[in-house]
Amino acid sequence: MSKGKELLIGAIKDGIVIDHIPSKKVFLIVEILKLKNYSQRITVATNMPSSSLVKKGIIKIEDKILQENELNNISLIAPDATINIIEDYEVVEKTKLERLDEVEELVRCDNPKCISNHENIKTKFVRLKEENKYKCFYCEKIISEDEIHLKTK
Ligand code: CTP
Ligand code: ZN
Repeated sequence: MSKGKELLIGAIKDGIVIDHIPSKKVFLIVEILKLKNYSQRITVATNMPSSSLVKKGIIKIEDKILQENELNNISLIAPDATINIIEDYEVVEKTKLERLDEVEELVRCDNPKCISNHENIKTKFVRLKEENKYKCFYCEKIISEDEIHLKTK
């Protein structure tokens, strides 16, 4: 290592690296992935230097596979994040997340009068593509990306 350089965080052997997370969203992702009692090594970093974001966050989780609903929850919070799958120290798969066009069950409707808050039905939101806002299928309330309340929290 050249003088003056430091290794910021170590590589992992097997698992996943969630990269390019806005720093402010890192701990919310830790929470929704329910990592509090996870028994393998987890590295959480915020305010890391990045070329594309001003400062980014990274979460590295050893021996973890993400389920589809976990990926969807992450894309609702950090739609520009990248998911890297690591096997034997190599990146074997890299997926840039995308915004969901339709979101079933994951997001709570903020309208107290909405039928989804009273009947036992799945919530459903449809993305308004021009603005990155989501509209409740039942009551048509529109929420912006920053106002999303996930059900798993
Ligand atoms: N990484 C890791 N352990 C490994 C391999 C990679 O923790 N054994 C991490 C890297 O630190 C990086 C991410 O996984 O945060 C993606 O690795 P890589 O594709 O090599 O980096 P970049 O090319 O910088 O990725 P991108 O183009 O997505 O920014
Ligand atoms: Zn609603």
